[in-house]
Amino acid sequence: MNLPTHVRLVEVGPRDGLQNEKKPISVADKVRLVDDLTAAGLSHVEVGSFVSPKWVPQMAGSTEVFAGIQRKAGVTYAALTPNLKGLEAALESRVEEVAVFAAASESFSQRNINCSIDESLQRFIPLLEAATTAGVRVRGYVSCVLGCPYEGAVAAERVAVVARELDAMGCYEVSLGDTIGTGTPGATRHLFEVVGRAVPRERLAGHFHDTYGQALANVYASLLEGIAVFDASVAGLGGCPYAKGATGNVATEDLLYLLDGLGIVTGVDADRLIAAGERICAVLGRENGSRVARARRA
Ligand code: HMG
Ligand code: MG
Repeated sequence: MNLPTHVRLVEVGPRDGLQNEKKPISVADKVRLVDDLTAAGLSHVEVGSFVSPKWVPQMAGSTEVFAGIQRKAGVTYAALTPNLKGLEAALESRVEEVAVFAAASESFSQRNINCSIDESLQRFIPLLEAATTAGVRVRGYVSCVLGCPYEGAVAAERVAVVARELDAMGCYEVSLGDTIGTGTPGATRHLFEVVGRAVPRERLAGHFHDTYGQALANVYASLLEGIAVFDASVAGLGGCPYAKGATGNVATEDLLYLLDGLGIVTGVDADRLIAAGERICAVLGRENGSRVARARRA
């Protein structure tokens, strides 16, 4: 069993975590969250999204959040950008990285970004060109890789086609999103076997929502397939506005506990991370979704 020795954690709590919150969250609280996360040693944080405020109102303040954070050397501050308009706003906010997001299911693509999969990929090509000219790296997402809220099962081969397109247009990494958290470890291994033939595994990442309680098991299955980059959300915050009932990503604290236990290096400090999660949960008035954080509190 050859597990990776190092894992890069991509903290998506400020974006994937908060995007679904109905109550407005102040810019100051969002800024504090990002700064707490980087203080805990996270080197890659999705700070927000430059999307239509009509579609995702909670992300409307992303410009202000970027203006307020304390930028640490060596940290990648990233944002979601669905189109050129989003990229322009992101560049004005001096992002280090942007992410484009496609889906492996047509129905989800329509509901999430109001266009077909092909149209979205066509839209991303000029975005990648402009980002590259500006010296900004682009990450790609594929949603619904282990199931779609509207279409049900999704074949790994369909995911591979979209992932290959994103890779070919210049995304330095493609994150495979189990948007609704229905995947299980066997399906996860099969997914990486199939997609790993289209895109080199060192350019693939895993993004597991924990709706069915499978996220940590799916991470472990991915580690066995040689995947070494995982997205996670502090306190397990979140859900997707276009996938009803979907809950947050695997909690970063719980994932860190797993990786620490395996002796896999991440550079993240568990105590500071737990404190960051407790703080944002107090702001939101929510129970902490991290089992580790709850166990520590007890
Ligand atoms: P559309 O309505 O087709 O866009 O939306 P449009 O180009 O026709 O423009 C309509 C209006 O939106 C115009 O304003 C534009 O200016 C404005 P109006 O003239 O009506 O006042 N607009 C924008 N405003 C700000 N920033 C922009 C922007 N673009 C257009 N970038 C669009 C298409 C893609 C814009 C829309 O569907 C959208 O914003 N979708 C975002 C959905 C989203 O953020 N979903 C959640 C993130 S994805 C996710 O969570 C999954 C992931 O975590 C992985 C996983 O778990 O699977 C990544
Ligand atoms: Mg997500």
